[in-house]
Amino acid sequence: MAESRARVRTVVFPVGGLGTRFLPATKASPKEMLPIVDRPLIQYAVDEAAAAGAEYLVFVTGRTKRAIGDHFDTAHELEYELEQKGKYDLLEVVQNTVPRGLSCIYIRQGKALGLGHAVASARAAVGRREPFGVILADDLIDTGERPTVLAQMAEVAAARGGSVLGVERVPQEETHKYGIVEGEYVAPGVTAVSGMVEKPAPEHAPSNLAVVGRYILSRNIFDYLAETPPDHRGEIQLTDAIAAMLRDEPVYAYEYSGQRYDCGDKLGYLKAGVAYGLKHPEFGPAFADYLRHTMNTSG
Ligand code: G1P
Repeated sequence: MAESRARVRTVVFPVGGLGTRFLPATKASPKEMLPIVDRPLIQYAVDEAAAAGAEYLVFVTGRTKRAIGDHFDTAHELEYELEQKGKYDLLEVVQNTVPRGLSCIYIRQGKALGLGHAVASARAAVGRREPFGVILADDLIDTGERPTVLAQMAEVAAARGGSVLGVERVPQEETHKYGIVEGEYVAPGVTAVSGMVEKPAPEHAPSNLAVVGRYILSRNIFDYLAETPPDHRGEIQLTDAIAAMLRDEPVYAYEYSGQRYDCGDKLGYLKAGVAYGLKHPEFGPAFADYLRHTMNTSG
């Protein structure tokens, strides 16, 4: 796997959320295990972290999330059977769900009290000095041949210091779905953040620059999280802690290049399935033919 020069050694995956938008699929299994073609969303997230040079993967899990731990564990019986049957290509796929040399750490978040609470739960597992990454697996971002989003952000963090948030411009009417930043444009794609607000109504949004599910955070964020009160819904927002931190130390927003699919949303999830299906090396062309035919016949 290609490794970036600047690296993010520890990456946190908040996977404790309930996934209510995908019920009943998520009644007994995690939304992060929903597949795009043949790989679960969390696998794409882990591969992105590995490509940014991660060594430690910290999963903040909750009830009904055991499948995630199993997915990244050794599957002795399955491996034995595949070996007996001579299915070595599949054996390799199964053995490499965690790229070699990476360690998984699991933390159980007793209550799902928001993204800020999930990240705060990872404190003991995150190293003492360096910034760490956070990836929200529902935001699947295809960067094609370019470095992954976290790797792109790692370069910005290494060059400038401080924290870096992955952002993209969204239609003004969608600001209520995201953390929105404001600030001063300091280099191509880079904004020095001076303010940040969680899910503002379009008429109150300071810009249309939306934080997607990628963060590289200074370790000091844990001190700000500890001081962040719950919002009106009783959730501790990561956005509020970052908004407090940026008064004391630099936070940058980086407009990454890549195509994002919001897989926390049914339509976004379907779009991702189509996009990844179309570029699948084995059946992409056949799938394209099928889609063309279906569109023509469905009038
Ligand atoms: C979370 C964050 C929000 C961010 C979004 C990105 O919201 O709170 O600031 O813009 O992820 O996907 P959620 O989508 O979990 O409600």
